[in-house]
Amino acid sequence: MKPWSIRNAVESDLDAIMQLENACFAADAWSRENMHFEVQAHHTVYLVAHLDEQLVGFAGLSKVPGNDQADIQTIAVSETQRGKGLGRDLMNHLLTDARRQLAYEVFLEVRADNEPAQKLYESLGFEHIDTRKRYYQPDDVDAWVMRLQFKQSSFGREPVVLGIESSCDETGVGIVRGSTLLANVISSSMDEHARFGGVVPEIAARAHLEALKPTLNQALATANLSLQDIDAIAVTNGPGLGGALMVGVGAAKALAVALEKPIYAVNHLVGHVGVDILERGKLETPTIALLVSGGHTSLLLVRDLLDDVELLGETIDDAAGEAFDKIARVLGLPYPGGPEIDRAAIGGDPKAIRFPRGLTLPKDMEKHRYNFSFSGLKTAVARWVEVAEAKGETYNKADVAASFREAVADVLVSKAINACLAYGVPRLLLGGGVVANARLRELATERCAENGIELRIPALSLCTDNGAMIAALGAQLIMAGRQPSSLHFGADSTLPVTTVQSL
Ligand code: KG4
Ligand code: ZN
Repeated sequence: MKPWSIRNAVESDLDAIMQLENACFAADAWSRENMHFEVQAHHTVYLVAHLDEQLVGFAGLSKVPGNDQADIQTIAVSETQRGKGLGRDLMNHLLTDARRQLAYEVFLEVRADNEPAQKLYESLGFEHIDTRKRYYQPDDVDAWVMRLQFKQSSFGREPVVLGIESSCDETGVGIVRGSTLLANVISSSMDEHARFGGVVPEIAARAHLEALKPTLNQALATANLSLQDIDAIAVTNGPGLGGALMVGVGAAKALAVALEKPIYAVNHLVGHVGVDILERGKLETPTIALLVSGGHTSLLLVRDLLDDVELLGETIDDAAGEAFDKIARVLGLPYPGGPEIDRAAIGGDPKAIRFPRGLTLPKDMEKHRYNFSFSGLKTAVARWVEVAEAKGETYNKADVAASFREAVADVLVSKAINACLAYGVPRLLLGGGVVANARLRELATERCAENGIELRIPALSLCTDNGAMIAALGAQLIMAGRQPSSLHFGADSTLPVTTVQSL
């Protein structure tokens, strides 16, 4: 973990920025008006770095849309933090942004007598291309003009990426061009798991093998492309079911080798977050992301999609979707349980039975503030039904379903909102199949509105596991100039969310 945190500058940072500006560049510091104009301008990106709530650095880039060139306008690091890598970190963030905005070249000016800065820029790939005589007044010092040229990718600006997803029971193949969705085809082996009441890993793996080729062909047909039109392959290499992942990884590697195309191994959970780009063109950050499905229940703090994803908490036992599936069984409803319980809850009273909310007691707050647990809830519902049945009572199934659903939705939404408030993040993004849940959507909408939090729920076809989200994340990596993965990566069923790309 880096000791500082970097985020986009806002107008209220201006006082602190000016203080550092004056401390760093006494003689030729910018005026406050000038700085204010640049910080809030649409064609600039200004970043601020904080350490212990103190501003310790800032940097700005300008990039006019439609122009291939970007300029590093300024970079300042407080004296106490020099030589610790903060300048490099700020530069890397700006360069990533420049690439994302499809710049080909980045320019900057640096004092001819500032050797440490020149060395840093050279190590980032900048070259000294020109000298402006006596540019810095009143010191009479020359300016070096330095330029970084991004290596042009062989496939032009908007890469066409094929994404393969096979981490659980959905075989997904998606195709994107840059941030545009071209195809999203899913084949699910859900029906084959129904009689077991949950996903059986061996069945899922075999189903992926059978479904991959037809799913791929259908995706290509939908996008009206042939395999030769694909610029790169992206594939989920974790987390998920080991055997299931291996099928997708093997297929993706085979395609990459046969087509001689680069391959990007990406994180499934980060894919769920990045999918928002396909609807909005970009991901608004920072954002809290709540991912809830049959396989995961994760609460993430996403400061930057490619570089800074933090796991705040996750389930310590069942996933949220799993809880729905198990309770459906208790109530005699078929698999998958989520939609069944949603239906059964219609007309039920969510307050009829007060089921426990896992890990929400004061004593849980230290270790488990953002973790989830559904096993206690599951037992409580099962016990309640058992007792009612033992007494020969006819109970109201709608009340039980509604009360159970309320307990799950309440915990999920409460913890997500708490995270937004605690981290000062005004956005919440939902992902995963459980997002289909009517009460979860309603409660999230209500509580976000109450707390001034913007709620994002992508279309359900992008929320459930799919290949488009994997393709979209691959395209982001390519557009940020990231190197492809080698062919040595493997399937990693416990891949941490901090590993966005496996090399
Ligand atoms: O993301 P997803 O399609 O993939 C896997 O996790 O494999 O999520 C499926 C899960 C299942 O557990 C299902 O019961 C749950 O999402 N689910 C729901 C609803 N629809 C699907 N849970 C609650 N309410 C729903 N309406
Ligand atoms: Zn998923």
